[in-house]
Amino acid sequence: MKKTRIVVIGVGAVGSTTAYTLLLRERADELVLIDANKEKAAGDALDMNHGLPFLGRTKVWAGTYEDCRDADIVVVTAGAAQKPGESRIDLLKRNVGIFDSIIGEVTKYNSNGILLIATNPVDVMSYFSWKKSNWPASRVIGSGTVLDSARFRYLIGEQLGIDARSVHAQIVGEHGDSELPLWSLANVAGTELNFDEEEKASIFTNTRDAAYQIIEAKGATYYAIGLALDRICTAILKDEGAVLNVSTLLEGQQGLSDVYLGVPCIVDRQGVRRTMDIELSDKELEQLRQSSAKLKGLIASLEL
Ligand code: LAC
Repeated sequence: MKKTRIVVIGVGAVGSTTAYTLLLRERADELVLIDANKEKAAGDALDMNHGLPFLGRTKVWAGTYEDCRDADIVVVTAGAAQKPGESRIDLLKRNVGIFDSIIGEVTKYNSNGILLIATNPVDVMSYFSWKKSNWPASRVIGSGTVLDSARFRYLIGEQLGIDARSVHAQIVGEHGDSELPLWSLANVAGTELNFDEEEKASIFTNTRDAAYQIIEAKGATYYAIGLALDRICTAILKDEGAVLNVSTLLEGQQGLSDVYLGVPCIVDRQGVRRTMDIELSDKELEQLRQSSAKLKGLIASLEL
């Protein structure tokens, strides 16, 4: 039986935390770490292998792009990360240059896997990867607003004193400053949430600006994004059909097209099966259009 393989490209804070999370949860038979810093990748692999007696039989190694050949999922976290005060958009030019080489290398060896992009600005990097790879959009997925929606659910749960897993609430749009909350659809057990405007503003601001706060405090975010990427990998490998707000190509949904952004998608072994048809309020639809327009402007600047 074919062994499942996940390749993680980039073993900085996000990549190595994601790889470790995948290892702890024994998501794949094989875990391959690739980084320009070969010594770091080799050190991470060695360090993880020493933990196998406490875990199980995942095979972990520092590899080369040739190891992408049999990968089910290639997670790309490589690239410059936000510094304190930097926005995700500030990383665009640097990371597109890095991606031009990475995606070219991956597609040299793999033509039927799934690309899972985490590098910021993730929506534009996902669009670039889709174009560069020439793969169907269903198999080029961005982490999108999966993490933002988790932060949103956590903060709502804290406010209500309810387990975040029982809170159904979504952030859509850019994984970034123009993201927006779908308060009209947020619920616990089907009952809508009765927050006043001040509570809503506070919860959303703390959701949208969480990364800035964490980066200011400790230099980078990596635990929750690692768990978010693990969640997406699990939905793929277990063919779950889970609804996750990954970044995907819109082709007319909500009147938007030729842009990648976070919306609720059905995720299974083939990648994004389709997006969910959701009813937005007029205000939410306008905000989503503004978020899309911002991303399309950035995509146009790439002159692809
Ligand atoms: C964050 C990074 C992953 O939001 O953009 O923490």
